[in-house]
Amino acid sequence: MSLIKKINDKTANIAIIGLGYVGLPLAVESGKAGFTVTGIDLNEEKIKALNQGENYIPDIPDEDIAQLVATEKLKATNSFEEISKADIIIICVPTPLDKNKQPMTKYIEDAIESALPYIRKEQLIILESTTYPGTTEEIILPRIESKGLKVGKDFYLAFSPERIDPGNPSFKTFNIPKVVGGVTKDCTKNARAFYEQITTGGVFEVSSPRVAEMEKLLENIFRIVNISLVNEMAMLCDRMNINIWEVISAAKTKPFGYMPFYPGPGTGGHCIPLDPFYLSWKAKEFDFSTRFIELAGEINDKMPEYIIDKVADTLNKDKKSINGSRILIIGIAYKKDINDLRESPAIKVAELLLKKRAEIMYYDPYVTNAMISAREYYSIELTPDLIKKSDIVLITTNHSNIDYEMISRNAKLIYDSRNATNDKFDNTFKLGNWNITA
Ligand SMILES: NC(=O)c1ccc[n+]([C@@H]2O[C@H](COP(=O)([O-])OP(=O)(O)OC[C@H]3O[C@@H](n4cnc5c(N)ncnc54)[C@H](O)[C@@H]3O)[C@@H](O)[C@H]2O)c1
Repeated sequence: MSLIKKINDKTANIAIIGLGYVGLPLAVESGKAGFTVTGIDLNEEKIKALNQGENYIPDIPDEDIAQLVATEKLKATNSFEEISKADIIIICVPTPLDKNKQPMTKYIEDAIESALPYIRKEQLIILESTTYPGTTEEIILPRIESKGLKVGKDFYLAFSPERIDPGNPSFKTFNIPKVVGGVTKDCTKNARAFYEQITTGGVFEVSSPRVAEMEKLLENIFRIVNISLVNEMAMLCDRMNINIWEVISAAKTKPFGYMPFYPGPGTGGHCIPLDPFYLSWKAKEFDFSTRFIELAGEINDKMPEYIIDKVADTLNKDKKSINGSRILIIGIAYKKDINDLRESPAIKVAELLLKKRAEIMYYDPYVTNAMISAREYYSIELTPDLIKKSDIVLITTNHSNIDYEMISRNAKLIYDSRNATNDKFDNTFKLGNWNITA
């Protein structure tokens, strides 16, 4: 039976390599659409949890996992042998940077090397990990063709970027439009047919994997550049005694040509702080320097230090220094309403505070424990007494389910780097509005 027919009647078996923030939601949507899905991961805890019907990604309803596992639509394994039974193989492994900001495509290479012995004719392989243009055709294609298989004839290969936004209540894997770029027209056609079964957001075809890889980077670079622009404006607003939050509220009334980005202690997560540097690295091969990306990285990387300066200025109001102060950090995840700590600017801020000999504690309703300067900290219980005993409350993540009014009633001082307090309280000093209440 042809691959397209198996896709259309949902008898195609799906293998998803990498069951993280991207792979697991995709596995769930594929299972819910009627496909049988095998997730392959190296993390034994994730495999065990899933096979017991337990969920570990907050955006996914627990009952979805329980039901898919109970009905044998979803299972997890560390065995790549399962690849031989799959008709569609989707790679969702990490793409971090090394300490010199060089791309680490090692996870993609490992995944394809492990799958290679089990790759056979009539399979569709899709890469979803964010990466530099050329990865699909330079890293994956030659490895599969080395088995004597011809792309577009014996097997199909495409890139389709993942656009999930963890914590976003409106847009999820099933309703975000998918972009697909296959190596040949038939590769695109098969990838399109699959995503049409699992998304209501529509599928947009591009002419090659490279275009799809580049468009994903354009999305993320657009974000990092605009966040750095608004962070620079926030720092200027601090000096000029203008409220950046009010400025943004006014600017966003324009119905065209502007979209709001908000200042904060820096960018975090597995995407925005990392992906743009995949392009900077690749651009060097073409004697090209990506100045916007470098500048945006530079400004955002400095934000944690700027926040520390402002915390010091705020404590100074009470004739105190960071050294020896009890500082209660609110929110340690990289953004609101999620539990992801990767590249979290709140951790960077906490580590800088420790270097300056502050006594720190944190509260985060989503994160029970976190490594800060190689020591494990646990989220404390947020009580009026604890807040009263803190010299300053520092808001680094604006989770929605926190009682900011209670914090404000009991805090001596607040420094709010996210506008979680929304100009409501007098004892609050804010990023981008510091002088207003001074
Ligand atoms: N997290 C996001 O919001 C997001 C959004 C869009 C795109 N992306 C991109 O998607 C990709 C995956 O990101 P993520 O956040 O899901 O990462 P993650 O760390 O949450 O999950 C990756 C999973 O891959 C597994 N893994 C690593 N190497 C493996 C291998 N060789 N074989 C099998 N499994 C392996 C890990 O154990 C982990 O469970 C990255 O390229 C990222 O840039 C992430």
